[in-house]
Amino acid sequence: MISLRNVHKTYHPGPNEVRAVRGVDLDVPPGVLAVIMGPSGSGKSTLLHLIGCLDTPTAGEIELDGTNLSQLSSDTRAELRARRIGFVFQKFNLIPNLSAVENAELPMLLAGVSRHEARTRARAALERVALKERADHRPAELSGGEQQRVAIARALVNSPDVILADEPTGNLDTETGERVLLLLKELKGQGKTAIVVTHNPEVASLADFLVYMRDGKRVDSLERTRQEVRR
Ligand SMILES: Nc1ncnc2c1ncn2[C@@H]1O[C@H](COP(=O)(O)OP(=O)(O)OP(=O)(O)O)[C@@H](O)[C@H]1O
Ligand SMILES: [Mg+2]
Repeated sequence: MISLRNVHKTYHPGPNEVRAVRGVDLDVPPGVLAVIMGPSGSGKSTLLHLIGCLDTPTAGEIELDGTNLSQLSSDTRAELRARRIGFVFQKFNLIPNLSAVENAELPMLLAGVSRHEARTRARAALERVALKERADHRPAELSGGEQQRVAIARALVNSPDVILADEPTGNLDTETGERVLLLLKELKGQGKTAIVVTHNPEVASLADFLVYMRDGKRVDSLERTRQEVRR
C-alpha cells in the first residue's frame, strides 16, 4: 500500500519558490494500477519522484506498506528503492558510456546478482521490449523510443513490486507503444502496484483509477465534472 498524506514539495531554484506539489493525499492499494494525468508543470513527475524515494517532501508523509519513508535514513531509503521500486524516468536517465545491456543489468549488479545471471536477465528484459538487436549500442546510438525501452527494461529487471513510470510511451510509435501497454497489463496480472504518468488514453484505459493534477493539487472531481459536461 502506498499512502500519501498532505504531501508538499517546494523548490527554491532562485529568488522565487516553486510550489510543485501542494497538499496531495493518495492511497494506492497493492495490485492496483493508478494513472496520473494533468497539464505540463502540474507536479506529476515531482509526485512520482517523491513516491520513488528519489526526492523527499517538504511536508507531509509518504508510507510504503506502513513504513514512513521520511523516518528512514537515506541509505535505507536507497536500499528500499533498489529492492522494491522500478522507476521509468521521463528523460530516461541512461548512463551514456554504458551499452543498452549494461544499463539494463546495473540494478541487478547493485543488488548483488552475479555478473553472468545479470547479463542473461538483462538480455531477456531487452528482448521483452523488442531491443535484442540493440543490446550492445550506447544510448547516443539509440533513438528516443529505443532509449525509453531500455529505461523500461532497466526498471523491470529486478522484478520490483512497485513500478513508477513517467510517460513510458511518450516516445514510442504505435507498435512499440502497444508492447509497453501489454507489459503494463502483464504487470497488473502479476499483482504488481503501478503508478503511471501518461497523456496516452490507451494507457489511461488500463487504470483502476485516475488521478488528475493541476497546479500541484489533485483535481479529480473537478476533472470528472468537466468530462461529464463535455458528454
Ligand atoms: N528541480 C526543480 N527545481 C525547481 N523547480 C522544479 C524542479 N523540478 C520541477 N520544478 C517545477 O515544478 C513544477 C512541476 O514540475 P513537474 O516536473 O513535476 O511537472 P509535470 O507535471 O511532470 O510536467 P510535464 O508534463 O511537463 O512533465 C514545474 O513548475 C517545474 O518547473
Ligand atoms: Mg513530468
